[in-house]
Amino acid sequence: MPATKIIKLSIENPDAGKIKEAAEALRGGGLVAFPTETVYGLGADALNAGAVQKVFKAKGRPSDNPLIVHIASLENIHQFASLVSEKGLQLARRFWPGPLTLVFHRKKIVPDIVTAGLETIALRVPDHPVTLELLRQFGGGIVGPSANVSGKPSPTSAEHVYNDLNGKIDLIIDAGPAKIGIESTVLDVTADPPIILRIGGLSREDIEKEVKEVHWTNETEILRRSPGTRHRHYAPRAYVILFPPADEEKFRKYIRQNKEQLKKIGSITYSKELAGIERSSFHLSLESSIEHIAKNIFGALRELDRQNLDVILIESVEEKGLGAAVMDRLRKAAFHNG
Ligand code: TXA
Ligand code: MG
Repeated sequence: MPATKIIKLSIENPDAGKIKEAAEALRGGGLVAFPTETVYGLGADALNAGAVQKVFKAKGRPSDNPLIVHIASLENIHQFASLVSEKGLQLARRFWPGPLTLVFHRKKIVPDIVTAGLETIALRVPDHPVTLELLRQFGGGIVGPSANVSGKPSPTSAEHVYNDLNGKIDLIIDAGPAKIGIESTVLDVTADPPIILRIGGLSREDIEKEVKEVHWTNETEILRRSPGTRHRHYAPRAYVILFPPADEEKFRKYIRQNKEQLKKIGSITYSKELAGIERSSFHLSLESSIEHIAKNIFGALRELDRQNLDVILIESVEEKGLGAAVMDRLRKAAFHNG
């Protein structure tokens, strides 16, 4: 495939004419990376099995990991889902467009390859004017896994997408950096109470304000309902060590120990207590608001991964609100530590 074309669009004032080209590419069975408020997605026509097959191939994604279908609005649920529960509808009304993916029973019209053979379908209305216009012009559902090569962090900018997928896809719509920076929360509403399969851009606390109870903890049940979650998640090449928020003593200790062993150390911190410490050969300091951390963490990990480090020290965040999703991703990044 020739080099991938990039279309730049302003999020405030998207040019509908330019979006037409992307809608046509999708209609022709092409692959188009699109912006969302969470991360960039890799789009194809959800009802075209051949196009969806190309998505798996471009990402190098295992075929038993199902895809989310993006839709323009609530009314499109019934095109793909059957037996939609009242609670599912209530959550969709409350949080769409937004960073919540809902898992429903599926209709037969959905090709098996999209759901990896499962009897359920994951749907989401993204909160992004450019992609909502693309969905309206295209007039159907668009599959959208994160637009990274499998095993890399999800892309939060068009540049990340380009670095991973140039030459493998037709188009990238560049609308600047993603607002949230962490993938959507995946909630299975075929169960009651609903089950969180992946914590993400919408917090458990916010969901529980709307429906009294959600379930979270049972790993076996998550695996049964979402087989794709067993695949290895992104982890940098370097050995990742997480340390508690603002723990200056631990941070200094890890730096000292690793320096003694002549390790090349990278670090990511947020709190001002740690700002002045002589730290490591490659340091990234993010502002301490959880929104800023979420928005920049995947980009920071990509940057550190380019530095050929032995060890990466990462400050943990408090596990509430969006912090739960950030910690989930950081733990996965550190998982190979055993
Ligand atoms: O924010 C997001 O969700 C982004 C943007 C582009 O919308 N997309 C994204 O897609 O992160 P992906 O494919 O990287 O992650 C989708 C997650 C996977 O964990 C997958 O296993 C789960 O959703 N999933 C998809 N369909 C499912 C289904 N029918 N049942 C259970 N889990 C499902
Ligand atoms: Mg992904």
